Amino acid sequence: MAEFPDVRTLPLDETARAALAERGLEYRLIENERAAAMEAWSHAVRRGFAGSELTAEEVADWREPMSWRRVTGVYDPASPQADRPIATASSWVAPMTVPGGTLPSWSISTVTVAATHRRRGVARQLLEAELRDAHAAGVPAAGLTASEATIYGRYGFGPATKIATWKVDARRARWAAPAAPGRVQYLDREDAALLMGQLHERTLSDRVGEIPGWPRRWRGRLALAEDKNEVVRAVRYVDETGEPRGVMAYQIDGDPDSGRGELTIRYLIAEDDVALAALWRFALEHDLVATVTAHMRPVDEPLPWLVDDARIAVSSLKDHGWLRILDVPASLEARTYAADASVTLRVTDPHGYADGTWRVDIADGRARVVASEDQPDVALSVIELSAVYLGGFSLPVLRAAGRVTGSAEAIDTLDAALRVPRAPFLSIVY
Ligand SMILES: CC(C)(COP(=O)(O)OP(=O)(O)OC[C@H]1O[C@@H](n2cnc3c(N)ncnc32)[C@H](O)[C@@H]1OP(=O)(O)O)[C@@H](O)C(=O)NCCC(=O)NCCS
Repeated sequence: MAEFPDVRTLPLDETARAALAERGLEYRLIENERAAAMEAWSHAVRRGFAGSELTAEEVADWREPMSWRRVTGVYDPASPQADRPIATASSWVAPMTVPGGTLPSWSISTVTVAATHRRRGVARQLLEAELRDAHAAGVPAAGLTASEATIYGRYGFGPATKIATWKVDARRARWAAPAAPGRVQYLDREDAALLMGQLHERTLSDRVGEIPGWPRRWRGRLALAEDKNEVVRAVRYVDETGEPRGVMAYQIDGDPDSGRGELTIRYLIAEDDVALAALWRFALEHDLVATVTAHMRPVDEPLPWLVDDARIAVSSLKDHGWLRILDVPASLEARTYAADASVTLRVTDPHGYADGTWRVDIADGRARVVASEDQPDVALSVIELSAVYLGGFSLPVLRAAGRVTGSAEAIDTLDAALRVPRAPFLSIVY
């Protein structure tokens, strides 16, 4: 990945600072080594997401993931809690996996505006500042996960990866796949958190749309950094040689005493298909459990093929990773392609970054993209371009919805080039 400046020290966006100052608000870059400022900021984020007050231990847990981010806040000097920001955001540059490599992505997180200051354009100032910062730093795209699907389209973000929640009637589950040769073993949750991090790093390039994780992400899945009252257990799968290949965190609620336990898989990661199947089998065959639910899983989970009755595994889908292309040539040239294509694209972008007519020539898996004055074959906005970029959404479907226009042949050709063998997948929330 190209080297980018340390985003933590980039100067604050002047346009947003001036616009917020006009409303009596102060936009500040937070020195994230200052414990008191970070504590107040962490409390503001938690309040913004309607959570309970953070304990001192939880405040401490937040420090590491914020230490490498650019952390910003908006303050209201007229507030009786003037040291607690009324709006928050943080960002960093992450190498997002794309076919054949990575795309530097300006990752935006912890966006909140206090309920007392909502719908006055504060978030808009923060988001537009993030995009200007990213663009000025030469980062070709921005990414985020969204609490609601209606917030970020106005800034040019499109949904690029989906997740599935799988629900299984475990009482009807009959295993239909080969038995795994290794073993499933309980392990200490701290060890499980370490193993999750290692397996995530080792499997990052298996899927497109992923970004590297950080310790608190895994500790949270194991109820070591959040949900601390939950009874969470961890198991790993080791292969015949004793090498750990997968790990799962789960909890059992419901009424296990009468055989109606509800097992929730809080996180499952496997380095290979055998480990994945073995951990699913452990969950489905758990005694005293009637239903198994797994959130934030790939949409193309092999689960229905692992049991004899595919109907017992029901999935519901949701958008998850949102992407915003800022630099069309750099983004399109960063990935590889499944087929050749030569298409002229008209991309509209009200913010200007991606706007233009682009000649895209794809040969031998690589694209060459130049500005063009030709008549476009295909027209779409930056939202749709960002949505189809990883191959998780189909251009012909967007055409059917009226979101993409142009020659059906050019749309089909470009769509074939964008295809990826497995569904794009981002396994974490940020
Ligand atoms: C979402 C949130 C950050 C918006 O902050 P805000 O300062 O009220 O937003 P703004 O006033 O800048 O609104 C900008 C635009 O977004 C729209 N908008 C804001 N929040 C929205 C929401 N939740 N759903 C749909 N549209 C929303 C506004 O209507 C406005 O539309 P416009 O295009 O007509 O101008 C804030 O409501 C919040 O903190 N929510 C809880 C935490 C959260 O969900 N954060 C997002 C994490 S991904």
